[in-house]
Parts: sequence; C-alpha cells; structure tokens
Amino acid sequence: MTEKLSQSRSERDYIPGLGRHFLTPLYDVAHRVFGLHSVHNEMIELAELRGGHRVLDVGCGTGNLLRATGRRHRSVELVGLDPDPKALTRAERKARRAGLTIRLDRGFAQELPYEDGSFDRVFSSLMLHHLDRASKDALLAEVRRVLRSDGQLVLADAVLDEQGHHRGHRQGGMRGRMREQLQDNVGDAVAQRIADAGFTVEPTRTVSLRIGGSIGIVSARLDGNS
Ligand SMILES: C[S@@+](CC[C@H](N)C(=O)[O-])C[C@H]1O[C@@H](n2cnc3c(N)ncnc32)[C@H](O)[C@@H]1O
Repeated sequence: MTEKLSQSRSERDYIPGLGRHFLTPLYDVAHRVFGLHSVHNEMIELAELRGGHRVLDVGCGTGNLLRATGRRHRSVELVGLDPDPKALTRAERKARRAGLTIRLDRGFAQELPYEDGSFDRVFSSLMLHHLDRASKDALLAEVRRVLRSDGQLVLADAVLDEQGHHRGHRQGGMRGRMREQLQDNVGDAVAQRIADAGFTVEPTRTVSLRIGGSIGIVSARLDGNS
C-alpha cells in the first residue's frame, strides 16, 4: 500500500465505510447482506473495459469492486484509492488471495495523486455521500483531470425519493453528517451534479438492493466524447 495522504488532511477528515471506524471489519458482511455485488457487476458492464485499460476506483474501501473487475478482466491495470488504512489492508489481502495485482494508494478523492489524463476509466461506488458539497465538486474536477479525453466515469450512489427518503434504508442509523450529505441524492440530482461538472451523462441505471433501497449508477464521459 502506498501512502499518498496529503499533509493538510487529518485522519478525521473522512467518514469510513460504515460510518464509524470500529465497524470497518464488518464492511464485507454488510456488502454481502445488502447484495452490493449486483451494483458492482452493473458498473463493470457499463465500463465496457478492454485489455490495457487503466482503471481507478476512488473510495475503493475493502476492494470488492476492484477484485470483481480483475476477475473478469485479467488484462486491465487496477488502481484503488481510499483514506482508510484498515479498509486498504483488507483490500490488499483480498487481492493477494485472488491472485490479482492491484495498486492501492492511501489518499483523498479531492486531491487525486495521479497525473493528468492517466486513466481510461474511473469508478466510484457508494462514496459520494461521504463527501460534503465542496468535496463532491472537487472529486468531479479531479476525475475530469485524471481521465483521458475518451475516458469514462462510472459512479454509483444511493438514490433518494422526492421526500428525501432512501427506500428501506434506516437513515436514522447513519451519522448526522452523512445523512445530511445523502440529501443531495434526491431523484436525478447526482446525474445533474456530474453533468454540471462538464460530463455528458447517460440515463441513470437503478439497481434495487436485496435489503435497503435503490442505488443509481451514472455513466458519464467527458464532453464531446460521448
Ligand atoms: C460505503 S464505502 C464504499 C466502499 C467501496 N467503494 C464499495 O463499493 O464497497 C465508502 C468509502 O469511501 C471512503 N471515503 C470516505 N471519504 C473519502 C474521501 N474523501 N476520498 C476517498 N474515499 C473516501 C471510505 O473510507 C469508504 O471506504
């Protein structure tokens, strides 16, 4: 695991996968219970990966999407980034057991430690609601910067209905900051935010989780390249 954490951000500047650090060891159990593999499968399909593609997963957590991608596409280059060292340690172990080479970096979505135009695809799964508004915009600007001109962003996050409810999701169990940030996900708001950042977005695909509500998946390309 490579340390790419900016000096200006402390460990407390991010919300971990399940909202609290002590819950991180349970992340993969939650992944299975909610049936998140169906979201990841849909994301991989939308990305239309080809051999030699360089793929970044921002907020990769314990590496489930990277592992699923690597199992299906042996000849893509995989890079994952997350600020949570515990999640990255798990991701590293899982990649090793699966016989996959995945570069894992510790860092933040708002300051991607990569060269301009260095990725063909950027994934982000269930990470957006961990960010405040300024950070969401910073993430999208960073994704634009690191994507090649014909690159594609595939981003998944919860979809709230017009009343601000995530069907079946006990938002009461979420930490206040995250619950608040989730309110930005009503209807088509995520796709609109991505379009406002200069991407051309395709209609959002929706996946219903086994337990809980719906996840919207947005496929977006840089303007003029869709
Ligand atoms: C709900 S988990 C999703 C993990 C994984 N993408 C998945 O689909 O299973 C959200 C992840 O976002 C990460 N995260 C939180 N703030 C972040 C930030 N500023 N930059 C990058 N990742 C962040 C958390 O550490 C956590 O691993």
